[in-house]
Amino acid sequence: MRKTSAFLWISFAVVFFLVLAFRPVNASGSVKYAEGNPELPDSVAKIIQKACMDCHGADGNSMAKMRVNFSSWNTYDTKRQADKANDISKKVSKGSMPPGKWRKNNPGNIPTQAEVDLIKNWAKALNN
Ligand code: HEC
Repeated sequence: MRKTSAFLWISFAVVFFLVLAFRPVNASGSVKYAEGNPELPDSVAKIIQKACMDCHGADGNSMAKMRVNFSSWNTYDTKRQADKANDISKKVSKGSMPPGKWRKNNPGNIPTQAEVDLIKNWAKALNN
C-alpha cells in the first residue's frame, strides 16, 4: 500500500516537471504583452508593444483603451478584430497614431515604414 502511494507521488512529480519543461513558449512571456494576446502574430505584437501599449494596454489611457485595448484583444470576436485592424492600419499609415506628442518623446519607438507595411498587410489579411 505504501509503495503504491509513493509510486503515485513520483508519477505526479514526473508529469508536473514534463508539463513545465514543454509548456508553449508564449506562456513563459518572452514578449510581454503577447501573454494576454495570443491571437496577435508576434511580428505585429512587437510593434504594438513598443509603440501603442503605453496608452492602449491594461495600464494605459482610458480614452485610448475604450477605442482599442490590446490587453483584451483576445476577447474581441473575429469581425471586431478585423474592423479594429483596419482602423489601426489607417491610423498608423497616416501617422496619426501614435500621437505627435508621444512621437516627440519616444523618437526611437515610432514604427518604421517596414513596420507600417507589416501592419497594413496584417489588416488586409484579416479583412479578406
Ligand atoms: C500617447 C498615447 C497613445 C499612443 C502611444 C497610441 N495611441 Fe491610439 N489613441 C490614443 C487616444 C487617447 C485615442 C482616443 C482618441 C480619440 O478618441 O479621439 C486613441 C485612439 C486610437 C484609435 C481609434 C481611433 C478612432 O478614430 O476610432 C486607434 C485605431 C488607435 N488609437 C491605434 C493606435 C495604434 C495602432 C498605436 C500604436 C502604433 C497607438 N494608437 C498609439 C492614444 C494613444
